[in-house]
Amino acid sequence: MIEAFETLEEVMLHATLLAGRGQGHVEPNPAVGAVVVDDRLRVLGEGWHRVFGGAHAEVEALEAAGESARGATLVVTLEPCHHHGQTPPCTDAVLASGVRRVVVGIEDPSPHADGGGLSILRAAGVEVEIGVGAEAVERLNAPFLHLVGTGRPWIHAKWAMTLDGRIAAAGGHSQWISSEDSRRLVHELRGRVDAVVVGIGTVLADDPLLTARPPGPRIATRVVLDTNARLGLDSQLVRTAGEVPVMLACSETADTERVAALAAAGVDVARGCPDDTGRIDIRGLMGEFGLRRWTNVLVEGGSEVLGTLADGRWIDEAHVFLAPKLVGGRAALGAVGGEGLSRIPEVADLACVETRRVGDDVYWRGVRSRLEESSDC
Ligand SMILES: NC(=O)c1ccc[n+]([C@@H]2O[C@H](COP(=O)([O-])OP(=O)(O)OC[C@H]3O[C@@H](n4cnc5c(N)ncnc54)[C@H](OP(=O)(O)O)[C@@H]3O)[C@@H](O)[C@H]2O)c1
Repeated sequence: MIEAFETLEEVMLHATLLAGRGQGHVEPNPAVGAVVVDDRLRVLGEGWHRVFGGAHAEVEALEAAGESARGATLVVTLEPCHHHGQTPPCTDAVLASGVRRVVVGIEDPSPHADGGGLSILRAAGVEVEIGVGAEAVERLNAPFLHLVGTGRPWIHAKWAMTLDGRIAAAGGHSQWISSEDSRRLVHELRGRVDAVVVGIGTVLADDPLLTARPPGPRIATRVVLDTNARLGLDSQLVRTAGEVPVMLACSETADTERVAALAAAGVDVARGCPDDTGRIDIRGLMGEFGLRRWTNVLVEGGSEVLGTLADGRWIDEAHVFLAPKLVGGRAALGAVGGEGLSRIPEVADLACVETRRVGDDVYWRGVRSRLEESSDC
């Protein structure tokens, strides 16, 4: 444990790092971290929200600090809750601890919060400071804030491509473009999202399993966008539907017998209205996912599905694996299909947040840039 900090911003950054440990475990709750410090910013206790339904970060940190919390400062990434949810209100624990000051990263935008936690603390004479280190807290909780703000999950798009931007050779063969280390990272990603989505083109070409191996903290539902229910009964997805959930998103007009057979094999069928191209309305589907409080959705391709996302400007975060290979060939699929844009100034920007070498590949991660965030997405 770090023992002392120079500034409150540093304490908040530490609380944010603690909060990050809960990612994948706490959703649809936000990831929250808390640190109790004395007047010289020496750490008296710390904690984080570890698992959905478990103790909140403030309670953990205050318990760790014990009696020394009296007269101290609680630094917490998110406004303390004041409602009875899975656990009692954190404001009760904060007041009972006798802390003199509470420093908060961001307010809780959830409808049940409504700034009430801060008002209760202020009314009880606790000094409240808000907005310290807010940018890092917002970045960490972007999927949670997005779900609360839009009713839709945060869309991660992932693809592995060659140096010439291809995700498959001309005949459709794509295994494996990326290294084993990169694929391990993809499995980690799958293990902390609520759904893994692919188009039927990918299923027909690759017969993927799409599970996290080894399993992570969450079990993602495997979703196939398949207007006409072409998903094979003998596919790996259907054969394992009893172990890890599979959802077929198909149209109202898909063959009833095929759909019934897939449902009988354990596939969850979501029939919906098509979009204006006659295919699955991804935007509508994301709204359905939001109602289930799915916070993170990983879309793994292929090119057409990623193209639809890019055309709609619905990619919130991209995970790109660049492999040191050249495949060439005009017919080889590019990473992102769809309509595309005709002029470079119109293209969607993603702000790079991470680049690193993974095995022989380069891993690039970027998020929707601030300009894009202000759009309706
Ligand atoms: N390297 C990688 O990271 C990677 C990852 C995945 C796939 N791949 C490769 O990519 C290839 C498959 O890509 P693909 O472009 O042919 O197929 P795809 O994107 O996997 O699937 C496209 C199909 O999905 C269905 N779909 C339903 N709703 C859609 C919507 N709103 N937008 C787009 N598609 C929708 C459509 O078929 P219906 O009209 O019949 O519904 C469409 O033809 C394979 O060769 C695979 O190996 C590579």
